[in-house]
Amino acid sequence: MRKFLIAGNWKMNKTAAEAASLAKEIALGAGQQHGVDVLICPPFTALAAAARAVESSTIKVGAQNMHPETAGAFTGDISAEMLREHYVTFVLVGHSERRSLFKEDDAFINQKVLSALKNRLRPVLCVGETLEERESGETAAVVERQIREGLAGVDKDQADPVVIAYEPVWAIGTGKTATPEQAQEVHASIRKWLGDLWGDAAARKTRILYGGSMKPANAGELLGQPDIDGGLIGGASLEARSFNQMVETALETKK
Ligand code: PGA
Repeated sequence: MRKFLIAGNWKMNKTAAEAASLAKEIALGAGQQHGVDVLICPPFTALAAAARAVESSTIKVGAQNMHPETAGAFTGDISAEMLREHYVTFVLVGHSERRSLFKEDDAFINQKVLSALKNRLRPVLCVGETLEERESGETAAVVERQIREGLAGVDKDQADPVVIAYEPVWAIGTGKTATPEQAQEVHASIRKWLGDLWGDAAARKTRILYGGSMKPANAGELLGQPDIDGGLIGGASLEARSFNQMVETALETKK
């Protein structure tokens, strides 16, 4: 009942020309099927080129960040309206690199979620604990706070476009993946917290992606877990072959 979403977070990689060629390859391999939602998130400067490259396919385009305000004195930033102009329909919000390197807190991330929804973009709210937090037994408390504060003011009737990505910080770009059981445990808790906020029916419909060193070799096991509804993939999304292989795996995985 929840369609898998396989999303590529290209981070600060790919020029517009490189992005167009990667997007074309992804569209060629995965862009004519409707069984799995496929999303690519290139950097801002490559959005237009990537959107053009996938225009006659089912591939969706997302941004990696946005500012909550519509316009104004925010040097270096981009608004939801500017993103929509480039056929962007999703936006990553609160990625751990934004939280740690750019000091974004839950309140600011919440403003972005609310602004994305108001501007008809689907927010992918990223949450996850650091290694230190996991080792000191704080995983549940940290992730619950990120969910509750990130989604503050989002009503049940606005829940439909929201996607959650659970990305344990210690697994991002490190080659260390959470075991399927570790990931499932947190995903199930997230669904319970979503249920507290929105009721069980809305929580059951919400997609919760796993992110953190997901690759073709471990995608099957992760996607096979009952509460894992897709992946947010960094490193392994920069190459069409491995990314498309994970779309295939999602197509083959029955729940
Ligand atoms: P990774 O990144 O797949 O390279 O670990 C995931 C992410 O940061 O979204």
